Amino acid sequence: MDTLSTQVAVRENFCVEEQPDRCGVVIFGGSGDLAHRKLLPSLLHLFQRGLLAEDFFVLGCLSYGDSPTTDEAFRDTVRASLSKGDAAAADLDTFVARCFYQPGQHDDPALYAALARRLEALDAAHGSGGRHLFYLAVPPTFHEPIVAHLAEAGLTGESDDGARWARVVVEKPFGRNLASAKTLSESLRARLRERQIYRIDHYLGKETVQNVLMFRFANALFEPVWNREYVDHVQITAAEAVGVEHRAGYYDQAGCLRDMFQNHMFQMLSLVAMEPPAAFEAERYRDEKVQLLRSLRPFPDDPEALDSWIVRGQYGPGTVGGEPLPAYREEPGVAKDSRTETYVAAKLLVDNWRWAGVPFYLRSGKRLARRVSEIAVTFKPVPHSIFGALGVDHLASNVLALNVQPEEGISLTLEAKRPGPKLCMGSLTLHFDYRTVFGEDPPEAYERLILDVMLGDQTLFVRTDGVEAGWTILDKLLNSWEAGDRCATGCHLHPYAAGSWGPAEADALLVRDGRAWRTP
Ligand code: BG6
Repeated sequence: MDTLSTQVAVRENFCVEEQPDRCGVVIFGGSGDLAHRKLLPSLLHLFQRGLLAEDFFVLGCLSYGDSPTTDEAFRDTVRASLSKGDAAAADLDTFVARCFYQPGQHDDPALYAALARRLEALDAAHGSGGRHLFYLAVPPTFHEPIVAHLAEAGLTGESDDGARWARVVVEKPFGRNLASAKTLSESLRARLRERQIYRIDHYLGKETVQNVLMFRFANALFEPVWNREYVDHVQITAAEAVGVEHRAGYYDQAGCLRDMFQNHMFQMLSLVAMEPPAAFEAERYRDEKVQLLRSLRPFPDDPEALDSWIVRGQYGPGTVGGEPLPAYREEPGVAKDSRTETYVAAKLLVDNWRWAGVPFYLRSGKRLARRVSEIAVTFKPVPHSIFGALGVDHLASNVLALNVQPEEGISLTLEAKRPGPKLCMGSLTLHFDYRTVFGEDPPEAYERLILDVMLGDQTLFVRTDGVEAGWTILDKLLNSWEAGDRCATGCHLHPYAAGSWGPAEADALLVRDGRAWRTP
């Protein structure tokens, strides 16, 4: 296959980049992994790009493990983790000087009384006027008690004119199933208004995921063919090369369906398949996404039939580049008899006018052959080949691939004549590569999302009904899987070699429909 580089002229005619009002960011779990790997580096980048008000502040909090007990100790850890990056020393010092720490236990009212005093003093010193972003970078069991204590301490109040606000960022998982998601939502909404709750799905902050909307709704070219008449099928892949890493405690209880499908995969599916909202406004846009999820056909109840719709797997031992890789059950912290899936492939149908009969194949897994996430739309072949004389009765289908990561970009495969006196045909790929065109890597997804919280823009966050619509599709399935060995069929756990593309049964899912997975 030939590869052509596109020449792209970028016009920056339409650009919105707002700076939020001065505010303070309180990170529960401020010394944890998420804070140090994603949140603090994202805040630093926003600061370096001049997108944070000059005198913002960050207040890490909670005591656990060897977390810091003083501002100075916290600053040392922040400096140590951020100086691994490319931060200019001057910026880094200024940033670090705006970091503070409040130790305490998440269920101790004394922590919240201390927080209230601390925030009052920090607001006075930094001019943040009671505007606070509370980031819950903690296990989900902490969400409800933290929000309840914040409310009791009077930290969730807002002024009518919007000058004083409290916004709470909640990390997934949003419950374990439909019932627990509803309980969590009810508890959050007993203390917060929906406009104060920012359920984060970091895939929605990825540049190429956001670009799906621009691509679909800012170009007239695609809408006429974006439907059952022209699209043969859609494949959405989120493959990871890494295993469960140090997160076995969480992952072995969750599994791939909860960890990736209920959120990231369903969000990508809804963006690619939703109807155009009337305007790019939070509620209209989220209405359309929820509508799409509600149009998904439920998985069959009959376990015998389920194998034709969904396949789950768990990685066994394997090798990559001659290096041996352990089986999932041999990873630290994983139960030796674990039946948790590390891979899921599913076929979904959208029961609406646009997509009736078009299969959407979704797959995600850990320890796969390589890290790649993409959305690939395969169009129907031409109805009749006039090139029979060339021995070409079946021309290859055009495929439009939206590459989410790691090589962010868009590619389109076309059939074309090869140069030369003879009539030869071949497939070529037009490829737009983000890094080549813009000369830099796209920003970390968290940067955009944190900025949106500060700006009060909920467009890229998941609403309660969106969470519930996702769980509704998966609920029965999870129950039948949890029935485990009592389930005769439909809940098999197929082994696959670490470093492969998943279990053979996932291939069979498509072969049965006369199709095959792409090798991205
Ligand atoms: C997280 C999941 O939400 O997304 C992880 O909990 C997964 O298990 C991660 O590894 C993948 O994110 P990314 O941005 O690396 O594709």
